Amino acid sequence: MFLIQFALNMEASSKFLNTELIDRHKDSLNKTNSPANKEDLFASITNNLIKNNTSIVSHYYVDPLIQEITEKTGGFVGDSLEMAKFGSQCDSKNLVVCGVKFMAETAKILSPEKNIFVPTLESTCSLDLGCPAPELKALKDKYPDRVLVVYANTSAEVKSMSDWVVTSSIAKEIIEDLHLEGKKILWAPDKYLGSYLQKETGADMILWDSACVVHEEFKADGIRNLKALHPDAGVLVHPESPSEVIDMADAVGSTSHLIKASQELQFKKFIVATDKSIFYKMSQFSPDKEFYEAPTGGVGSSCKSCAHCPWMGLNSLQNLDECVVELKNEIDLNDNLIELAKKPLDKMIQFNA
Ligand code: 13P
Ligand code: SF4
Repeated sequence: MFLIQFALNMEASSKFLNTELIDRHKDSLNKTNSPANKEDLFASITNNLIKNNTSIVSHYYVDPLIQEITEKTGGFVGDSLEMAKFGSQCDSKNLVVCGVKFMAETAKILSPEKNIFVPTLESTCSLDLGCPAPELKALKDKYPDRVLVVYANTSAEVKSMSDWVVTSSIAKEIIEDLHLEGKKILWAPDKYLGSYLQKETGADMILWDSACVVHEEFKADGIRNLKALHPDAGVLVHPESPSEVIDMADAVGSTSHLIKASQELQFKKFIVATDKSIFYKMSQFSPDKEFYEAPTGGVGSSCKSCAHCPWMGLNSLQNLDECVVELKNEIDLNDNLIELAKKPLDKMIQFNA
């Protein structure tokens, strides 16, 4: 069992958090839970979804109001694997994906006959930005004997050159399977998830050097201090977090897995190391339990992401309404790219089935 860290000539992933994005993110945090005209927007969105034969699919990290309207209109809220599956299962001609770009691209690849829209085309992901296709291609060429496994948080182009695509809810099982078959792995882009998988499965993995700007900020010391105040709290951690944070977890896994753990574990309080919009679902399932954000910046310092994805935060009720009224911000991928990227995605869906 060994690990080779492939260090790209890249700055820390926090370079993607520029000042303008942080300001808009803080603005979106302020707007959350203070809808000036929630009822009007809910009515407008509902009417236009019906009129335009459209459904919404949303991630647990988007504004709770978006999660609420998604469910009220018969859409679906889930983790990234469940979102991918929902797209091809629903009957609507049009789908609005509230999350980030890779989720909408995945929906398009798996359901090319549908029109896929997003509330904003700006909503991306630091892992996607940190893994440009030409650089990954160069690394792939350097290791022709390795199976290229990429995280779903990547562009369609990156998926198109990969052998496997995985989400955090199925990554361990797929890597375990490949390892049992004697395969050596080239993993991209999340180094923390990669090293967690390597530790769990014993697989021989070379890791790309990139991280999620939100999960990378969670601090083990901060969690220890918070646990001192709440010694009876359980700790829930998404595996995009650093290993010292993962080591403190009572449950590690995808967003769906963490929600399930918050229901099933006996704790009455939880410290949660993932995007805080997930508290909406956790509290819905367990209204009697308390949820605390895992600390990010350390004692006395200010946080950058503040446990909320800046790109997920760009989705709002307002731009969702504009999107369903005008059917704008369509995801457009060429047929060849769809055909190539569909292969590893189909393998993941079949493996899951
Ligand atoms: P899940 O697949 O667990 O929903 O996670 C997606 C993601 O982007 C986490 O940061
Ligand atoms: Fe990407 Fe992190 Fe945002 Fe998830 S939380 S979409 S991994 S930047």
